[in-house]
Amino acid sequence: MTCRCKSRFNAVFMKNLEWYMKNVYGKHKIELFNRIGGKVLEIGAGTGINLDYYKKVKDLTVIEPSKEMLEYLKDKAVRSDIKLHIIEGVGEKLPFEDNSFDAVVSTLVLCSVKSQSKVLREIKRVLKPGGIFVFIEHVVAPEGSFTYSVQNILQPAWKWLFEGCDIKRDTASVIRRYFPDAYIKNVRFKSPFIPVNYHIVGYGIKKDHSA
Ligand SMILES: C[S@@+](CC[C@H](N)C(=O)[O-])C[C@H]1O[C@@H](n2cnc3c(N)ncnc32)[C@H](O)[C@@H]1O
Repeated sequence: MTCRCKSRFNAVFMKNLEWYMKNVYGKHKIELFNRIGGKVLEIGAGTGINLDYYKKVKDLTVIEPSKEMLEYLKDKAVRSDIKLHIIEGVGEKLPFEDNSFDAVVSTLVLCSVKSQSKVLREIKRVLKPGGIFVFIEHVVAPEGSFTYSVQNILQPAWKWLFEGCDIKRDTASVIRRYFPDAYIKNVRFKSPFIPVNYHIVGYGIKKDHSA
């Protein structure tokens, strides 16, 4: 039997950090989530922290690989009035038809996926033409900055403890490959979590039928 200790730790950690995440990201989420409606997919939905922000969404599908995170999410879903479909799975292989969602959401997920390219290809594939991909992700700090040095030192341990979370990803470049006209804003949060202070917040629109 494999130990799920780290997954349990991460789920408990994220759950207990929800109040903090709401303080840090809340304002940005309200702005971003205002742009979405209709049929929505959230990848790596974790403990379900974003459920509170889907004010205009009536049909939501979430996909999440961690059983431990899903336990919290399911608990929250009971108290939500959104029509919710919960699926255990990964962003690299989305079990949905092409062109099937009006919006896809990713918050703090592209740091942890095995392949950002595969996930972004899948996001674009399942979005309808004109559909929107909204994201908030922590990213690598500017080279030479204090945070960059801290990221260099902590990267291996962080990745091990937080199940693959890579604090040194240049996620904006990968997003631009799939959403060339994406609006991407750099935001630096002043928080005690120095390795994850630098973020990108934004959205991209799928222009055509191309997968
Ligand atoms: C830092 S947590 C963020 C959770 C939530 N999105 C939030 O904003 O709090 C990262 C999440 O990504 C999930 N994840 C990791 N690898 C993934 C993958 N390949 N596809 C989809 N989700 C993944 C993890 O299980 C975890 O729930």
